Amino acid sequence: MPRNEPYRPQFHFSPVAHWINDPNGLVYYKGEYHLFYQYHPQSTVWGPMHWGHAVSRDLVNWNELPIALYPDQHGTIFSGSAVVDWRNTAGFGPQALVAIFTHHQSRGDTQSQSQSLAYSLDSGRSWTKYAGNPVLPPTNRMHDFRDPKVFWYGAAEKGHWVMCLAAGQLILFYKSPNLIDWEACGGFGFGHGSVEGVWETPDLFELPVEGRDETRWVMLVGVNQGAPAGGSGQQYFIGHFDGESFTSQNPKGVALWADYGADFYAAQSWSDVADGQRLLIAWMNNWVYARQIPTGVWRGEMTVPRRLSLAQTADGIRLRQQPVAVAQVLGLQELRESGVIIPAGGVFAPAMETGSLWEMRAEFATGEVQRGDFGLRLTWGDGCIVTVTYRDGFLIFDRTRSGAVGFNADFPAAHRAPLALDDGTLRLQLFVDHSSIELFANDGLLSLTERIFPDARPLQISFFAGDAPVTLTALSLQRLAAAQFAA
Ligand code: FRU
Repeated sequence: MPRNEPYRPQFHFSPVAHWINDPNGLVYYKGEYHLFYQYHPQSTVWGPMHWGHAVSRDLVNWNELPIALYPDQHGTIFSGSAVVDWRNTAGFGPQALVAIFTHHQSRGDTQSQSQSLAYSLDSGRSWTKYAGNPVLPPTNRMHDFRDPKVFWYGAAEKGHWVMCLAAGQLILFYKSPNLIDWEACGGFGFGHGSVEGVWETPDLFELPVEGRDETRWVMLVGVNQGAPAGGSGQQYFIGHFDGESFTSQNPKGVALWADYGADFYAAQSWSDVADGQRLLIAWMNNWVYARQIPTGVWRGEMTVPRRLSLAQTADGIRLRQQPVAVAQVLGLQELRESGVIIPAGGVFAPAMETGSLWEMRAEFATGEVQRGDFGLRLTWGDGCIVTVTYRDGFLIFDRTRSGAVGFNADFPAAHRAPLALDDGTLRLQLFVDHSSIELFANDGLLSLTERIFPDARPLQISFFAGDAPVTLTALSLQRLAAAQFAA
């Protein structure tokens, strides 16, 4: 199927047609990264949810497969996770893939949510719902009771399954020997972090701290409202988990954000990845305008997957996100420059082949004391412009004139992320696809993910200096080929 409609992403996953939101059921098994997702197969707006399905062997090229989970008598299929049940604890069969998801039912003004299982014995190609569903029935006390994230905690023989569940502004923990019988054990929230919106789609995992003989647990929580760029966004907590409950080491009123752009939500990590890597992907959208973005037969796409680690910074331990090596798979011509001095008020425009898909890496040196502003400008034709500016301790992504912006009043905006430049150096890595930009600063310590809808015209990149000169110490501009999306 040709994928050449306006705004169609060429190296980000999108479905051939119809609506998607959250990534679900991320699990690695026998060489394949499974990506399930919230899917409405009859419409380009949200509705009765199914789990759509795609697989990839390299996290760049994707193969869309038939729908995995359909609504049934217990409700529609909301978000959740998947694991490989290596020791057959549930008794579904050897090496069953087990999906743990929310069954959702609307009843007039109220809703009922319960947690259920399905399993596959053929690498996710066909699924059987567990006959005893739901395994966690709805409760009258909790209107929001959803998005189970399940993982194995502890040693192979002595550990147990853990389920994290979003309930209003709490994350509840349950434990189980077999994925079927669950016992409530702890909770986290109680005023920690951002509490402006409802909490959704939790994730929890342990990571080593770079350069230290220590680990920390990272809890990711989607917050629908109140994110730095407005609307939905992704906060995280660093702390400890003892198998039953999580304790945050962030000060209570402080929210840490995994991304400062407007379009990074419901982030989830893959289970069972060989060699213990932690890989994350998010829905590249925002509930404020998700139903209105001006794409055609499909609506919704995912970010580039990112490899996670923990860095010790002056402010404390922080999440580092490094995109998978897209250019290794799709890289075409590369242009390199170094030592380009841009005078105050000046512009540097590298001579490059036109093309619309790019990865860019740039390093700017401002001297010890950063004075003026500087940055880069992306221009499609003469009318669509995105600027990325470093000014007064903030990285600012401005999409007010980025093309089609009028579909929602909140879309055209400039979003700011705080970023200290310790030695006056700013390193940027940027991916430009047909309707998105992902920006990583200082080796992934900051990320900013944004949808844009520019005209399909050749893209020009230029760099500018404001009141003071800046040196572009290193620049790499690499054209990318389109990924393959078999369907
Ligand atoms: C998050 C979310 C989840 C829910 C799903 C429904 O974007 O609201 O909490 O399970 O989407 O599609």
